[in-house]
Amino acid sequence: GQEGAPPKNQSGQTLTILYGSQTGNGRGVAKALAAKAQSLGYGVNLASMGEYNVRNLKQETLLVAVVSTHGEGEAPDDAIELHKFLGSKRAPKLDKLQYAVLSLGDSSYEFFCQTGKDFDARLSALGAKPLLPRVDCDVDYQSQSDSWQTELLERVKPLLQVADGAATNVVSINAANLGINSNTGQEYDKQNPYSAEVIVSQKLTGRDSLKDIRHLEIDLGESAISYQAGDALGVYFHNDEALVAEILEVLALAPDTRVQLGAESLELRDALIEHKELTQLYPGLVQFWAETVESGELLTISQDKEQTRRFILSHQLVDLVKRYPLNGAKLDSAQALLDKLRPITPRLYSIASSQSEVESEVHLTVALVEEERDGQRRFGAASHFLARAEEGAQVRVYVEPNKHFRLPEDPQTPVIMIGPGTGVAPFRAFMQQRVAEGVAGDSWLFFGNPHFEQDFLYQTEWQQYLKSGALSRISLAFSRDQAEKVYVQHKIKQQAKELWQWLERGAHIYLCGDAERMAKDVHQALLEVAMEQGGLTHEAAEAFLDQLRSAKRYQKDVY
Ligand code: 2AM
Repeated sequence: GQEGAPPKNQSGQTLTILYGSQTGNGRGVAKALAAKAQSLGYGVNLASMGEYNVRNLKQETLLVAVVSTHGEGEAPDDAIELHKFLGSKRAPKLDKLQYAVLSLGDSSYEFFCQTGKDFDARLSALGAKPLLPRVDCDVDYQSQSDSWQTELLERVKPLLQVADGAATNVVSINAANLGINSNTGQEYDKQNPYSAEVIVSQKLTGRDSLKDIRHLEIDLGESAISYQAGDALGVYFHNDEALVAEILEVLALAPDTRVQLGAESLELRDALIEHKELTQLYPGLVQFWAETVESGELLTISQDKEQTRRFILSHQLVDLVKRYPLNGAKLDSAQALLDKLRPITPRLYSIASSQSEVESEVHLTVALVEEERDGQRRFGAASHFLARAEEGAQVRVYVEPNKHFRLPEDPQTPVIMIGPGTGVAPFRAFMQQRVAEGVAGDSWLFFGNPHFEQDFLYQTEWQQYLKSGALSRISLAFSRDQAEKVYVQHKIKQQAKELWQWLERGAHIYLCGDAERMAKDVHQALLEVAMEQGGLTHEAAEAFLDQLRSAKRYQKDVY
């Protein structure tokens, strides 16, 4: 949390930079901005929105909000409270405040950058004045974000007059917020990943499973990278050579065509394999292709947001160029296509191990994303890369801390862990950590997957934990082992009474896995438990879960 008064510069003003970030991008931008401002000698106060005390708002004069948006216009978990507060009657007048908002989002969604738009509108409605116009960044946010930062620092310069030679004066940003490794001073992060070695790759699901889920062990070697149970691992990948060959063939482009990426000249094939996003389309690319091939059908899709969104969800670049072939139309150049493709962004995987058990290793639980389209198997880029990675392969990684998914401080506090499918990963980390620390607190795991025989991930480990007493209870939902579907939320409702008793004893609830459906259905089940067992109205039950969340007793890591 925040301690003491924020540092001031000589004009007595502090630049407060708040971030709301689910996957770390917002945090990264805020950190970079804070570092730049600090090096210019400005007074900076950098914090997650989740840690920020809203009572300080009235004293702020310069406030920067960097915030992302998820799903259907939802705020990231650490921004929910502040977002709500600014829109509520409790929010104070902020007519002494000047502010700036940078929103991060994905334009393939309908409610693009909604949370950032809300912050802008709400701050302005409370009387605050914008320092510069809000910028809504798309997935490839880096260059927009950089120019926004530059402009912002220009704008605040006259407001934060720094006396000559005062650059070393002022300001503290605590090292924890900047994420600097205090032991080595060295830091691997998104911009500077560590090249690690895959030492184990094992299929967890059975031969007849509908799914291909793997357990990976990665050696962090001498990197001194450290992580905590609950953190995620950022993973860079290369695209499949066969996929790139297929795309080039359809487009009749020579693989060794020279192309330019920034200052680097390289072969088209390598540029596509190593640098470009091929499995995730975005609206601008669909539109570009529609115009290139002059397809009426594709133009219609590209002119409608909802149709574009659905198209993007079910097609990759290779599907796009095969379904809507050039057919004599001409592509300006290989370079033109390359420039339209977005750079690769790393994928985040919830870490499945604790360093108190595995030391310099990091374990992942990876489901291969695959779909059948037009008679072809199509894969998710990163999961396919990891599934192909053999023992000895190199993979570039970094740790993305997740302060909002942490075991309780008091080891005696009971924990309820809900993690169907690969959502179970961080709970393996939790259990490893609890056992290593000799923890006696109760624990309860809810796990689900299609079939007991094929899909009981880490079965023997859970059984050993049950036997030793480290795990107190396990509730299993094998959805397809009987005629009726059984999901984790059904198990939650069936055991409503016990679950309520655990909550009354102060249990923390953790939820990890599918955001689209599972997390919503589980949330609904928890509401029903609170209504039924606590005798609460629907509204009171919502408020109860809100309170649990504020008290960090209901934490989610959903994707
Ligand atoms: P299904 O595929 O048999 O429908 C992990 O993916 C498990 O989550 C699977 O058993 C899957 O069941 C199940 N699942 C699918 N939709 C779900 C939902 N809305 N809520 C909870 N579990 C769900």
